[in-house]
Amino acid sequence: MSLIEEIRTRQNITKDQLVHLLTTEDESLLTRLKITARAVADSVYGNQIFIRGLIEFTNYCKNDCYYCGIRRSNTRSDRYRLTEDQILSCCQNGYELGFRTFVLQGGEDPWYSDDKICAVVSRIRSSYPDCAVTLSIGEKSEESYQRFFDAGADRYLLRHETADETHYRKLHPEEMSLSHRKNCLRTLKRIGYQTGCGFMVGSPFQTMDSLYEDLMFILELQPEMTGIGPFIPHKDTPFADRPAGTLDRTLRLLSIIRLLHPHVLLPATTALGTIHPLGREMGIQAGANVVMPNLSPTDVRGKYLLYDNKICTGDEAAECRCCMQRRMEGIGYEVVTDRGDFR
Ligand code: 5AD
Ligand code: FES
Repeated sequence: MSLIEEIRTRQNITKDQLVHLLTTEDESLLTRLKITARAVADSVYGNQIFIRGLIEFTNYCKNDCYYCGIRRSNTRSDRYRLTEDQILSCCQNGYELGFRTFVLQGGEDPWYSDDKICAVVSRIRSSYPDCAVTLSIGEKSEESYQRFFDAGADRYLLRHETADETHYRKLHPEEMSLSHRKNCLRTLKRIGYQTGCGFMVGSPFQTMDSLYEDLMFILELQPEMTGIGPFIPHKDTPFADRPAGTLDRTLRLLSIIRLLHPHVLLPATTALGTIHPLGREMGIQAGANVVMPNLSPTDVRGKYLLYDNKICTGDEAAECRCCMQRRMEGIGYEVVTDRGDFR
């Protein structure tokens, strides 16, 4: 059996196989990797691409992750919070554009208490009963996660960032821990969220061993979603001078994840679109099946800067839905007006 068929049928991978797939220059093998991953995605989701409306509602953050542009130590970040009414008006605009999932993403901002989060979630769910709400607001207690779920949140994104303890320490200050983060993810699954983990490709100090741990963690957690995108340096962080992750490695990893975990909801991320003008299209062709255009008000988009040169931050980007639809149709895929649940 060929290497790719073996990975696909066993839904597992050895470290040697991973290293081989990430380092080979055998173009015919790489073509087969991509084509097989796309065929697996087609077999589960067809040529439909799910869209999520991303609402970046606060860029205040109490954490200090070394890679992130909105870390608390970055005094040059221009901080903002959207009000509940502003968030609801993003949803209304999004609903009219055909979005049926809203992703509320923010820094870990204590001003947004559990009561406030619950209030906005339940207001969205009652205003738009046919829509799903995804939260992406970091590490919280089990009690908080349960409250958000009871208020109507369907899904939760919490990238694990790296499943390698030593690597985790190099990306985060002492006060954060990998074990706590993994526990949050297990709690989210147990409560019943469609749960997403994920990591950056090419983050500083990442090794083949840490990437292998990332894949093993995905196989163990069996997340409904996995977010991966290239690391991109931000000028006002300790990693300002580090090189970005590459398009090529991100695409290979998207394909490998699709083979290992065929049903996963896998976005072609904004970061991928930032390192290459056609990055998101290439992500879909490598096996991704979700895109998450920005629905935030244009006047704050330029402030939610996790990394430099982020796309879709100018006024000209007000219509990401139409842009995304055009882009996906251009490569033969259909953007659907659907919650886009895990199958
Ligand atoms: N480059 C790419 N992705 C980043 N993230 C944070 N900072 C960066 C960066 N500099 C990612 C993290 C986080 C998600 C919301 O954005 O993986 O979980
Ligand atoms: Fe935002 Fe293209 S998706 S401008």
